[in-house]
Amino acid sequence: MSDETMLKVERLTKTYATAGGPLTVLREVSFELGAGASMAVVGPSGSGKTTLLGLCAGLDRASGGNVVLAGEALSALDEDARARVRNQHVGFVFQNFQLVPTLTALENVLVPVELRGQGGTRAEAAAGDLLARVGLADRQSHYPVQLSGGEQQRVALARAFMNEPKILFCDEPVGNLDGENATAMVELIFGLNREMGTTLVLVTHDNELARRCQRILRLKGGIVISDEMTGVGGGDDEALRLAAAAATAKARAEAKLRDPNYFLRREESE
Ligand SMILES: Nc1ncnc2c1ncn2[C@@H]1O[C@H](COP(=O)(O)OP(=O)(O)OP(=O)(O)O)[C@@H](O)[C@H]1O
Ligand SMILES: [Mg+2]
Repeated sequence: MSDETMLKVERLTKTYATAGGPLTVLREVSFELGAGASMAVVGPSGSGKTTLLGLCAGLDRASGGNVVLAGEALSALDEDARARVRNQHVGFVFQNFQLVPTLTALENVLVPVELRGQGGTRAEAAAGDLLARVGLADRQSHYPVQLSGGEQQRVALARAFMNEPKILFCDEPVGNLDGENATAMVELIFGLNREMGTTLVLVTHDNELARRCQRILRLKGGIVISDEMTGVGGGDDEALRLAAAAATAKARAEAKLRDPNYFLRREESE
């Protein structure tokens, strides 16, 4: 792995035990993402996007394969060690926000630094600044139940920024926002990516937003059906484009190998 690799995912598989037997929701997903890169993960509901993000961020354990995040092989780490890696390197904006209900907006933004034992007045000022940047200067002392869905989402983004993460995972970051707030949120996310070199992985149903990323990974039924370079930022890098094209061809070949009728059925249904 080169020094420049921020995230390496190798044959990642997730299988749940369910009442109806084992259910594989992610199957042998592989990709490699360089530091500072941006990638959108797209696909229909239930295709495994949130599952993939949770595994990449070390929130959940894989059933097979491996994730190397900032040089750390997550499968080799116990829960405490994974929590340390998350706190050091990762920002996460969840699909359902996951704010702490008993803490105010400001206190929620402070959680990552409190976990590091680095709270204090300077941290509070930084958290206040972040809330102002997401348009919530006058909502600092509100509890989550006193905030709208879109406001909670913006608090979650401010919290994700608090640690100046090396890699930011966003699950439908603008899903609950209106046009104006969605635009502001997108500018913040890509601003962080540009200005601080934060690696960005975002799940979205919004094609326009996906197209702002350098790369689009498309999932269906838990497998990668395409891995495309969009030409954004470094779009003249032919080597990257070729590598992505090769990855797509490989993903399609592997999918076909596992299920020879897969693409036949897919083409029929589309
Ligand atoms: N704990 C679990 N036990 C069993 N199945 C699960 C569990 N969690 C998720 N799944 C299944 O895994 C599949 C993938 O879920 P996931 O949340 O990753 O989808 P998604 O692509 O994020 O969908 P959406 O766009 O609706 O958010 C779904 O079919 C879901 O029902
Ligand atoms: Mg999801």
